[in-house]
Amino acid sequence: MNSLKQWVANSSEAVNIRLVKAVPGSGDDEDEDDIIEFNPEFTYPIFGEQEQIFGYKDLMINLEFASGSLASCFSMGYKEKKPTADKIYATMKDFLPEDIIDNHDLFTQIAQRDYISFKPMGTKVSEYRSNAEGAENSVFEFYHCKFDTPRFLEFHKRMQCFAIFFIEGASIIEDTDEKWEARLLFERVTENGQETYNFVGYSNMYPYFYYPDQIRMRISQFLIMPPYQKQGHGSRLYQSLYNDFCSRKEIREMTVEDPNEEFSDLRDKNDMKHLDAKGVFNDLQAPIKKDRIEQVAATYKLTKRQVARCFELALLRKLD
Ligand code: ACO
Repeated sequence: MNSLKQWVANSSEAVNIRLVKAVPGSGDDEDEDDIIEFNPEFTYPIFGEQEQIFGYKDLMINLEFASGSLASCFSMGYKEKKPTADKIYATMKDFLPEDIIDNHDLFTQIAQRDYISFKPMGTKVSEYRSNAEGAENSVFEFYHCKFDTPRFLEFHKRMQCFAIFFIEGASIIEDTDEKWEARLLFERVTENGQETYNFVGYSNMYPYFYYPDQIRMRISQFLIMPPYQKQGHGSRLYQSLYNDFCSRKEIREMTVEDPNEEFSDLRDKNDMKHLDAKGVFNDLQAPIKKDRIEQVAATYKLTKRQVARCFELALLRKLD
């Protein structure tokens, strides 16, 4: 029976994202260990609410990225195609890196070159080691960039599609607005005397005016790439941003644009830890007065709403 269903693919399942560590000399002999593959979380901004693609049997769309430079390659495969099938590349084009190529041999050459030569851009802020499994030879490094930072605009155009794929409701940001700031996280791996870099995640933020002469810094997109999630990197990135905001006199407050549940958890946990360390919850007595919340918010550059939430969590913790 030739049912209609077999000609419909779920777009998030059909798209395979591959992070490729192209070790020179390995040729086209793809070593499983050097490719990490996963599906996007969201493709509805590209393929529509239903996340469906019509007209192909056993459709596979591969988006390969060099793990450090994010140079990319598009390819697709299927068993059969109807003449009226959806046009896939044309539909995806506006969301993919401008310099994505479809020549796999050329991509392998570029990825091998970048594996050796790619270095992060911007000002290095700090580094740390992780005790996550497999990270024994790794150091994680933060870099701060703006759109006028050499090589960042190009890198940002490559990296933006991950916001679409993994952050619900994300859109491509205006990269001609020089006020944007970004913090990038890279893994530096040292093996056999060779240093290579992998992209781990990023956050971008926008400075809004805070009357009369300060800034409200708003975290807009915050992402840790799937292979690096649940290893503490999100918390490290959040702490790194917060420390930076605290050290800058012009910044009055840190806010977050549309935080989802996972991000809210991460934010609560880290803010609680910080406020705990500062002794804010010592001698905690309900009810908490409004001016106490305002004073803590002003001192620690958090929103009043977030401070009220932290007090609530601290009171609940006390009840336990
Ligand atoms: N082993 C096991 N678990 C660990 C380890 C470890 N070594 N280290 C930390 N964890 C746990 C934490 O305790 C935490 O547990 P909990 O969820 O039970 O509290 C959990 O892992 C997550 O903490 P982190 O590892 O610090 O966070 P992560 O690096 O996974 O980043 C984030 C979280 C940013 C939400 C990430 O999952 C992500 O990027 N998701 C997709 C995009 C997204 O949702 N972004 C936020 C949108 S909102 C916005 O952009 C403003």
